[in-house]
Amino acid sequence: FFSLFSLLCLWLASCHHNPNQQRQQSLADQRQPQFPSCGGLRQSPINIVTSKVHVNTALPPLNFIGHTNRINITVENLGHSAHFALPQSIRLTGGALPGHYRAFQFHFHWGVNGEPGSEHTIDGERFPMELHIVHIKEPYGSLAEAEHRDIAGIALLAFLFEETTEDNPHIDTVIDALGRVQNNGSRTVITDFRLSDIIPSAKELHSYYRYVGSMTTPGCEQAVAWTLFHKTLPISNRQLVAIAQQCRFWTGQPMTDIFRPTQPLDGRVVYRSMASSLLPDVILLWLGVFCGGWIYHGIEI
Ligand SMILES: *[C@@H]1O[C@H](CO)[C@@H](O)[C@H](O)[C@H]1NC(C)=O
Ligand SMILES: *[C@@H]1O[C@H](CO)[C@@H](O)[C@H](O)[C@H]1NC(C)=O
Ligand SMILES: [Zn+2]
Repeated sequence: FFSLFSLLCLWLASCHHNPNQQRQQSLADQRQPQFPSCGGLRQSPINIVTSKVHVNTALPPLNFIGHTNRINITVENLGHSAHFALPQSIRLTGGALPGHYRAFQFHFHWGVNGEPGSEHTIDGERFPMELHIVHIKEPYGSLAEAEHRDIAGIALLAFLFEETTEDNPHIDTVIDALGRVQNNGSRTVITDFRLSDIIPSAKELHSYYRYVGSMTTPGCEQAVAWTLFHKTLPISNRQLVAIAQQCRFWTGQPMTDIFRPTQPLDGRVVYRSMASSLLPDVILLWLGVFCGGWIYHGIEI
């Protein structure tokens, strides 16, 4: 396990030294026989080409359970990124996911000096930062079990950040916590935290992309149902610069540019849920009125 972990750290840390990061990381993917999945055909992240996305009316909204509960969460620097552990009371159902999922942890992907650092890109555009909330399918007891038993053992929710002129006060909580876990292995607790502080309410999350993919760190297990929301989260430039300055990799180097390059689609289809605005509801309403009148008229005749 230790050697796998070291390799993982080395792989991620290597991006810091290389200006030609995309190329280097892709080569690293291919060079690691220890992680055969990293060279697989269902890898993440991807670039989403919006003109090629398939609209799918069978993608209903997700149900968020426990997202407004006040919780204490442990934050730990794992040497390659910092994880915010979530309790099992936070759960996820619906969204055409093949089961019930419970939350495990969340973490962020960022760049350096305020430059873009999201993992997913949209029509080639990289966003400032990306939040991932990792969920494990029931009844699996661990991440490893979920990753190895099921092609949708993990449900990952992804949110892209967009730069705003105003600070996002909840991101300051995250930055402060990261400042308390500067080195590999250090931990801290955030008390009285609500997941709903950093993600929008469920009614703003009806619109999303869905595809099947992988974890974005080795072993790149191809066991993830990805949900990437249209709705972006706010962060100011000051916060974006600050968040990438808090932690160090296990090597002691600054923890920056922690994102994997986009991977080939390899024939996969990206779906989009229907509810991108109020428009469908309005159309349905009028269709209802129109058809209702017509049927009524027909009966009368
Ligand atoms: C969180 O921690 C505080 C202080 O340690 C404690 O008083 C409180 O009960 C904890 N809350 C939960 C939900 O565990
Ligand atoms: C990083 O921290 C973890 C947990 O404390 C420890 O097991 C691991 O050996 C550390 N890695 C390095 C390279 O120091
Ligand atoms: Zn991630």
